[in-house]
Amino acid sequence: MTDFQSVHGAAPAGVWAAPGRVNLIGEHTDYNDGFVLPIALPHSTRAAVRLRTDGLLRLWSEQGDGRVTELDVAGLAPGAVDGWAKYPAAVVWALREAGHQVGGADFWFDSDVPTGAGLSSSASLECVVATAYRDLYELDLGAADLALIAQRAENAFVGVPCGVMDQMASMCCAEGGALFLDTRDLAQRQVPLDLAGRGLRLLVIDTRVKHDLADGAYAALRAGCERAAALLGLPALRDLDLAGLPAALDRLPAELQPLVRHVVTEDARVEQAIALLDAGDLTGLGPVLTAGHASLRDDYGVSCPETDLAVAAAVEAGALGARMTGGGFGGSVIALVDADRLDGIAAAVTGAFKAAGYAGPRTFTATPAAGARRLG
Ligand code: GLA
Repeated sequence: MTDFQSVHGAAPAGVWAAPGRVNLIGEHTDYNDGFVLPIALPHSTRAAVRLRTDGLLRLWSEQGDGRVTELDVAGLAPGAVDGWAKYPAAVVWALREAGHQVGGADFWFDSDVPTGAGLSSSASLECVVATAYRDLYELDLGAADLALIAQRAENAFVGVPCGVMDQMASMCCAEGGALFLDTRDLAQRQVPLDLAGRGLRLLVIDTRVKHDLADGAYAALRAGCERAAALLGLPALRDLDLAGLPAALDRLPAELQPLVRHVVTEDARVEQAIALLDAGDLTGLGPVLTAGHASLRDDYGVSCPETDLAVAAAVEAGALGARMTGGGFGGSVIALVDADRLDGIAAAVTGAFKAAGYAGPRTFTATPAAGARRLG
């Protein structure tokens, strides 16, 4: 393990952290102006940072190739940076695009957010950079402003047309709660989620099937939703409710119907989940999760054999409910379980993967952690 001093030759001005996330419910709703309910993970990307005055961005990662990536801030442009360095570069570019007079810096990164696992490792990297720059350059930007800058960085510089959930989760989540977010106006409420106090655990199962949102499938789904909203004369699918769904489906071409059905029922599931949590009925959340997975599998088409197997094996072994989380095409599954069944359920999923000839999944329990912050 290196440290900032040995890479950059001086002490850092400070250290920041920004977490990854799992989404409890509300998948593929954020780019439809809908609702989401993520929690921040205890896993985070940490950055030690010191500003530079020569306009250079010098980036080092403990998970990198052992070399410093050096970039000229003034020359940053979409498409000009490859690999992990494009995420911090994108944020600096997006801040400058938004009119903030920011220059270079030395960065040392270390992350324990699994990559390619649907747990928002890239958003955590973007958000730690945004937060450090806000503090060091004394920018008058709030957490949601920084999330929007990070989303723009990912959309326009990295080239992934994601919604705002991951960046909002990494910036705005609070310890011990889930973030109920309306992605239309970014209205938010912290919803207490005392899983341990109810004898429950949230098991995360990383299937180790790498997902890659840049591969075009995500963009095609987003475009399909936008086309459906336009055909229905709505600003976004958020503006359709369960009561209006059957009539709306009749007006749409067959290939768009399942997409719309997922988005509308998923928004309703978020509202159902909120009502359950507000009523203190945490176990009632289980069937809502499992129904969400069926919708992502059957209507939205973003699950895969490994995520389907993890959900089925967890539920069969006694989980209260389970679903894939994040964009899909691999990645991770969450399962809500009684604490005393945690080990048995994790073992059952691992056994099912072995029997199917899949590589072993990585499992851990998630407790709702804090959003982006300065550590020192
Ligand atoms: C990815 C995107 C998010 C969101 C989810 C699906 O994580 O980055 O914006 O669309 O997929 O809910």
